[in-house]
Amino acid sequence: MARELTTVGVVGLGTMGAGIAEVFARHGLTVVGVERDEQAVERGRGHIQHSTDRAVKRGKLSVEDQQALFDRVTFATELEALAGCDLVIEAVIERLELKREIFSALDKVVREDAILATNTSSLSVTEISVATERPRRVVGMHFFNPAPVQEFVEVIKTVVTEPDVVEDVLALARRLDKVPVVAADRAGFIANALLFGYLNHAVSMVESRYATREDVDAAMRLGCGYPMGPLALLDLIGLDTAYEILDTMYKQGRNRLHAPAPILKQMVTAGLLGRKTGRGFYTYEAPDSPVVV
Ligand code: 3HC
Repeated sequence: MARELTTVGVVGLGTMGAGIAEVFARHGLTVVGVERDEQAVERGRGHIQHSTDRAVKRGKLSVEDQQALFDRVTFATELEALAGCDLVIEAVIERLELKREIFSALDKVVREDAILATNTSSLSVTEISVATERPRRVVGMHFFNPAPVQEFVEVIKTVVTEPDVVEDVLALARRLDKVPVVAADRAGFIANALLFGYLNHAVSMVESRYATREDVDAAMRLGCGYPMGPLALLDLIGLDTAYEILDTMYKQGRNRLHAPAPILKQMVTAGLLGRKTGRGFYTYEAPDSPVVV
């Protein structure tokens, strides 16, 4: 039978990490959120505040439940704060070396029987796991953006992940009201492997002036029934994250569908990262606000 995990840690409180922390806390788990400094902690707390304020405004969460949710979350700037966790999930930027350093450090402070998970979108979970002395207790747990909304989680099992670790993580995902599936450790797993060639193609269409951003998005939204067009979705995901995912997938598979469209790199270099910076393919008044231009 799956072990019930009650205290979880989240390393990295950016868009995904903060969303994941919110999901855990909303479902009654005790959460420890770790960021590299106080400023980053405040930003992470702000993401959760903003997202839960919105739920309160829409009548989906009471003010009392919002307070109770925050009472279940503590914030810290040191990994040592995660010592008592049953599971720790890492959700920092998509850089293999950084993730390996974090896993190596986590391995020294987190209980031996705890599970270490990564929210990586495309990097090798196996390569991350071997930075620890416990690769058998390392797994991928890949959430989708916005994490509080999307109902799907990919659980990535490496060739050495213990079956009971996979079972515990599947049970945890179900407790969060997500539908989990098990995927093998290949770049992009299931969803991103299918999604990112399409997103990249949409960028190329706009870059070559084949069609406007509005028309590309309208084609997929109105013509094909997608909730968002590909360019609006890239702004939601973050152009930096999208670039890193494409680059990793291209290096692994050499599929030219995944060779990042040149304009993507230029936009990232220029700081046009999408909603999080207020400008990407579209312009936004504030994070999560509708398109302005
Ligand atoms: N945080 C928390 N909640 C949010 C949110 C956010 N950032 N954005 C929207 N929501 C909630 C709203 O509060 C609302 O909740 P309610 O139904 O309980 O009232 C619900 O989501 C619907 O929101 P809206 O009415 O404002 O807007 P939409 O109906 O247009 O939905 C959307 C917005 C959920 C983002 C929808 O457009 C959508 O599903 N888009 C596609 C997203 C997608 O494809 N995500 C996957 C990206 S790939 C990925 O994440 C993988 C990674 O590795 C990169």
